[in-house]
Amino acid sequence: MSGTMLAIIGGSGLTRLTNLEVTGRRVVRTPYGDPSGSLLIGRIANREVVFLARHGYGHTIPPHQVNYRANIWALRELRASQVVSVASVGGIRADLGPGTLAVPHQLIDYTWGRMSTFHDTIDVPVVHIDFTEPYDPLLRAAILAAAAQAGEPIVDGAVYAATQGPRLETAAEIDRLERDGADVVGMTGMPEAALARELGMPYAAIAVVANAAAGRGESRSGVQFAPIEQVLQQAVGRVKRIVERFCA
Ligand code: HPA
Repeated sequence: MSGTMLAIIGGSGLTRLTNLEVTGRRVVRTPYGDPSGSLLIGRIANREVVFLARHGYGHTIPPHQVNYRANIWALRELRASQVVSVASVGGIRADLGPGTLAVPHQLIDYTWGRMSTFHDTIDVPVVHIDFTEPYDPLLRAAILAAAAQAGEPIVDGAVYAATQGPRLETAAEIDRLERDGADVVGMTGMPEAALARELGMPYAAIAVVANAAAGRGESRSGVQFAPIEQVLQQAVGRVKRIVERFCA
């Protein structure tokens, strides 16, 4: 077994990991408040894993109210050495249709009003993290390798736009995100990635395209919610196979 604990933060559609053999459950309190729920501890293949449902186990916490600081802090408290985020997104780029998996390599942060740093008190020196590469290149490579071994197609690289939500975007907003260079859009990628960097935890994401972004493809005249659940369910089965390879 590789000796270090893997943290998985599950988003919409992944509030549980059926291939996680749960051996424990920890309620962790942090100086920043409570995480989204208790942390499930267990193993997948040979690896120790801690799992946290980003929106809570009943999927009740909207993206702008997730306590990202408490979540990341709690994972560190349990000595997680890597964080893999699974997050559903809308596809902006035409080839990123529903059901596509992608491992983003860059992000643009459009969120506002979220507690986005651990360094926000005035009595300690200001800290600036380097965030040129927001996702850990080695962890990204390991996810891509695991996907290849599992025979699951996955797109290497995408620019992730983090929007505030909880509403979806207007068609013009999606046009603007595309002009900015974004390929996929989601609501939870930030400040999660930056907080992990602040604590020195390698972080990468598996983006699951749930729907075409507003005004694009099948969403040309509106995002249809009905198909999303089935798309996510299928994609999550694939994510689990990739995670299983990753842990082997
Ligand atoms: N926009 C923002 N976040 C999302 C979307 C979307 O279209 N789909 C899933 N998460």
